[in-house]
Amino acid sequence: MIDILKQRFAAALTAITDDAEAYLDSIRPANDPKFGDYQANLAMPLAKKLSQPPRNVAQQIIANLNIGDICEEPEIAGPGFINLRLKNTFITEQLQKAAADTERLGVPVIDSAKRKTYIVDYSGPNVAKPMHVGHIRSTVIGSALARMLRFQGHNVITDNHLGDWGTQFGMIIYGYRNYLDRQAYQQNPVEELSRVYKIVRGKIDEPDEETAAAVLNETAKLHSGSEDNLKIWHEVLPYSKDEIDRIYRRLNITFDYTLGESFYQPMLADTVDDLLRQGIAKESDGAVGVFFDGDEVPFLVRKKDGAFLYGTTDLATVKYRLKKFKPDAVLYVVDFRQTLHFEHLFKTVRLLGINDVELTHIKFGTVLGEDGKPFKTRSGDTVGLNGLLDEAVRHAESLRSKEAEAITSGTSSAAEKIGIGAIIYADLSQNRESDYVFSYDKMLAMNGNTAAYMQYAYARIQSIFSRGNYTPSADGALQIEHPAERALGIELLKFGEVLDGALRDYRPNFLTAYLFELANRYSSFFEQCPVLKADSEELRTSRLNLCALTARTLQKGLELLGIETVERM
Ligand code: ARG
Repeated sequence: MIDILKQRFAAALTAITDDAEAYLDSIRPANDPKFGDYQANLAMPLAKKLSQPPRNVAQQIIANLNIGDICEEPEIAGPGFINLRLKNTFITEQLQKAAADTERLGVPVIDSAKRKTYIVDYSGPNVAKPMHVGHIRSTVIGSALARMLRFQGHNVITDNHLGDWGTQFGMIIYGYRNYLDRQAYQQNPVEELSRVYKIVRGKIDEPDEETAAAVLNETAKLHSGSEDNLKIWHEVLPYSKDEIDRIYRRLNITFDYTLGESFYQPMLADTVDDLLRQGIAKESDGAVGVFFDGDEVPFLVRKKDGAFLYGTTDLATVKYRLKKFKPDAVLYVVDFRQTLHFEHLFKTVRLLGINDVELTHIKFGTVLGEDGKPFKTRSGDTVGLNGLLDEAVRHAESLRSKEAEAITSGTSSAAEKIGIGAIIYADLSQNRESDYVFSYDKMLAMNGNTAAYMQYAYARIQSIFSRGNYTPSADGALQIEHPAERALGIELLKFGEVLDGALRDYRPNFLTAYLFELANRYSSFFEQCPVLKADSEELRTSRLNLCALTARTLQKGLELLGIETVERM
């Protein structure tokens, strides 16, 4: 909708200024329905530029504005705001278009000129350690962004940059040699490896210098190609990958590529040599790094002992990706604590003369427990991700008995969708840069900005359909009369512009906020406008069609976030 308005304003502005584009962003949904549905706040800045009174400029704009098919006569308010009220006929027309388009709900595919190739780098857990709650944010935020970009029509490549080559393997290999219980390992390799990992971790933390040195040695041997260590690496890696894949399946997460750190090992020596040759990196004390003015720490790419680092791998990864995928943008969905790492990485890439690719670190904060400290189990361990998902599903099951009225039927798979949807949604509905408090009760509340509330709204619509013996069809007629219908209709038409807004700064919480508003407007529509008992057959059909479009929009919105709907709750 906003795009149509912008086009009309752009046309009206050409007679007044030659940089119309610069002013169009000030056309926004009105904050208060008193001021209409949309508001254009461009007469004031234009007036300054033209040195004319703003109200006069607003009048000129309106005189040139060809908008009669969309809006009532525009009104000028205050110092020169232009208030726009959409015509009901126009709303109806647009809703009908959206309803007929069951796949895209009227949201156009992005212009081919604006179409980009994105690489989204997300999840990237360090394998061989159990996956914990800290891994969930990158995983769900990255996956949601990838889905949203794809829906817009971009070419999206997802890549899981697994940490499969780090020092944790030194610990595992050392533990494997010294502490492994063969029988337990045969029965449950992941659990046994995790036990062994914890023993070694504990020793290093003690600190036990001898173990620490032995672990470093095992890591170095692995990296220099020791057959024995590579054999253990090849043996344990699949177990831990299976474990991670199980979690991805539960969370509905997929990747086009899983090229872990190990994949880039053969390219690292050249990466460093290239930096040295171009004079971008320097040797200092035997180590090699890129030094930036004003930064205390350099971007290290080779240690004194010859070992390569996380940064070296990331640099090799950038080069490989540029060559193989020719992306316009690479998005790194990674914890804010790695801010400096990515600043250095991006600066180094630019020093290499690579400027034609957007590189963005999409940062996020920490998951906290209800005590406000990083989320841990009672025993102080980090919380394992599988256990966390199980617990959410258990909570979702108990929700059924508590809210027996609301939730009349459910299978365990419904509880799985509700429980896991709750976790995903709770994460995505936060401003990603803030820390957030993990609370099962809050995330599973039936009333509020939760997945359960959206899933419930969706299921409630399905139950209206079954009671009314109605099968939603795409060609249904629609009419807008009641103010609650109008408010719902306008919100439905915002889906596309909300996606644009959410992706402008990669913020899935714009989409959750929209779904919440939509569900609320649906709720007041449902309270005020009888559907199955509407006054006429025509009105009943129209309202059923409005319900159907609402259900589809909720479903599509949740789907883009990676959350499934349930037919009955
Ligand atoms: N394995 C890293 C970690 O757990 C995350 C990887 C993020 N992606 C990247 N290209 N550095 O912190």
